[in-house]
Amino acid sequence: MTEARRSKGKKRTRIAFIGGGAMGEAMVRGILGKKMAVPQDMVVSDISSVRRELLSREYGVSTLADSRDAVKNADLIILAVKPQNLHQVMDELKGLAPEQLVLSIVAGATLSSLCQGLKHSSVIRAMPNMPAQIGEGMTIWTATTETEQRQKELARTALGALGKEIYVADEKYLGMATALSGSGPAYVFLFIEALVDAGVHIGLPWDMAQQLVIQTILGSTYTVAKTGKHPADSTNMVTSPGGTTTEALLQLEKRRFRSPILEAVAADYEESKRL
Ligand SMILES: NC(=O)c1ccc[n+]([C@@H]2O[C@H](COP(=O)([O-])OP(=O)(O)OC[C@H]3O[C@@H](n4cnc5c(N)ncnc54)[C@H](OP(=O)(O)O)[C@@H]3O)[C@@H](O)[C@H]2O)c1
Repeated sequence: MTEARRSKGKKRTRIAFIGGGAMGEAMVRGILGKKMAVPQDMVVSDISSVRRELLSREYGVSTLADSRDAVKNADLIILAVKPQNLHQVMDELKGLAPEQLVLSIVAGATLSSLCQGLKHSSVIRAMPNMPAQIGEGMTIWTATTETEQRQKELARTALGALGKEIYVADEKYLGMATALSGSGPAYVFLFIEALVDAGVHIGLPWDMAQQLVIQTILGSTYTVAKTGKHPADSTNMVTSPGGTTTEALLQLEKRRFRSPILEAVAADYEESKRL
């Protein structure tokens, strides 16, 4: 039985993507993987013919160069272009039907700028992060008051295809989350790199150090996530009095390990408000 026949009877969701780059592709992959839609109900508009060819070859979705054609009959329109291309796209898409839902993942594009630019009121603003590209993302999202509950559920399913998602009623949290989970992967990659360097510095082969660090970070993360306790509780459990860990922690405390992290996130947030 074909995918299209199997989904017969279920209400079909027609999805249009404007922008089929790294994040657009991650969403196409995730949505197909979660069987939220079938390729026949998905269309991607991208100005790049290379991207169009790749997406139709890899995922069987329709691809178009014209965004206006792509959104015809779509229930959900996902905006996944770079911020500098958003204005042009919004100009092209003006005049959507009221029941069409727009979901933007464009960094920094606020609900009011999206509503104004599109002359449309059913709009979701989401901020995913880079691990969304492998289905392990963290997305925070919000919606206009005009967005209906069933549309929010549609957005939740689409964003869930990228990893975990959190809905917030107040848009102010998206700017803050951008500084934490949006830019967060960069902080974590830097920490991984530094820890691997530390292992190499004391004599471990690089690939062994990298393996040790990755599993240590995954295991520690799962420990905090599964116990739900304050991380300090877990730190105490690996710190014996007068032992080696306490010596290492002393060095980190002496160099004020936490302050630059707090200041870096605050600087990111301030910069995002300035932009
Ligand atoms: N990458 C991340 O980790 C991440 C995380 C959170 C949020 N985001 C947001 O997600 C959005 C997409 O990011 P990305 O990394 O996927 O960017 P990307 O890889 O550059 O993808 C954007 C795609 O849109 C195409 N495009 C440009 N103008 C267009 C137009 N008018 N109509 C249709 N397609 C057009 C681009 O083609 P050309 O390359 O030929 O211009 C490109 O293929 C951005 O707004 C970003 O802020 C990204």
